[in-house]
Amino acid sequence: MFQPDLLKNTVALITGGGTGICRGIALAFAAHGCDVAITSRKIEHLEPTRDELRARGVRAFAKAADVRDPAAVNDAVAAVVTELGRIDILVNGAAGNFICLAEHLSPNGFGTVVDIDLKGTFNVSKAALPHLKARGGSVINISATLPYLGTMGQSHAAAAKAGIDSLTRTLACEWGPLGIRVNGIAPGPIEGTEGVTRLTNEKSRAGAIAQCPLGRLGTVDDIANASLYLASGAASYVNGVTLVVDGGLWLRSARILGE
Ligand code: COA
Repeated sequence: MFQPDLLKNTVALITGGGTGICRGIALAFAAHGCDVAITSRKIEHLEPTRDELRARGVRAFAKAADVRDPAAVNDAVAAVVTELGRIDILVNGAAGNFICLAEHLSPNGFGTVVDIDLKGTFNVSKAALPHLKARGGSVINISATLPYLGTMGQSHAAAAKAGIDSLTRTLACEWGPLGIRVNGIAPGPIEGTEGVTRLTNEKSRAGAIAQCPLGRLGTVDDIANASLYLASGAASYVNGVTLVVDGGLWLRSARILGE
């Protein structure tokens, strides 16, 4: 049965929350009564989503911060608490990616993606910890299915996402006793997002649809609904899990024998 207001009287901080999957998560949380703070590198990516959130009747706050910069992250977290009073839910969604074979990738290119995705997840989680601890809370780390197989052109992102999944499991153990659940979501290709636009072409999208047991790409709502579940009391005994939301696509990436 549909339950309204799953997140009433809570505050969420969502990095990368201005656009794409994380914008969808922000709107879904707001629809369930959650006040939402969003961050990303550029304030102009945040303001339209902040205004959309406010139009839905919740308190919303936007602050530019690069997750690679621990001082900026600390400032942003402090500003969120000043504006919205607390942090109950953290979604680590800020990410950067491009396709490049390892042979052509510079050390700085590899390190930049690890810095944004993996170290950024650590930086924001650590900065938010005192506030999550105050009342108990939930962390959701957005990773990917890239590291499950040898995804070519993604040595940087796959390593970073594998690291995030590892961090999810470790923090679930360290922070569970503090009343904080730490979980992840590994989305498949999600239609209409910058990631799919930038990282795929018509042929690879058609290939993904053909391979996917459910015969389609994912939607932003698919990920938003999974986030809603993990953030809410409905998942109160779920900790340390990375939920794959890809229609079973990665399982079919191996070819049928004889095909
Ligand atoms: N192929 C190979 N190397 C690349 C690259 C590409 N497409 N894009 C960036 N790099 C390398 C740069 O060459 C640089 O390394 P170098 O100093 O050895 O030359 C390093 O990565 C840092 O790049 P830079 O552009 O200075 O970093 P940035 O912090 O401004 O941005 C990203 C890094 C990853 C965020 C950038 O690619 C970007 O802005 N992407 C668009 C947004 C995005 O990724 N969204 C996520 C969904 S796909």
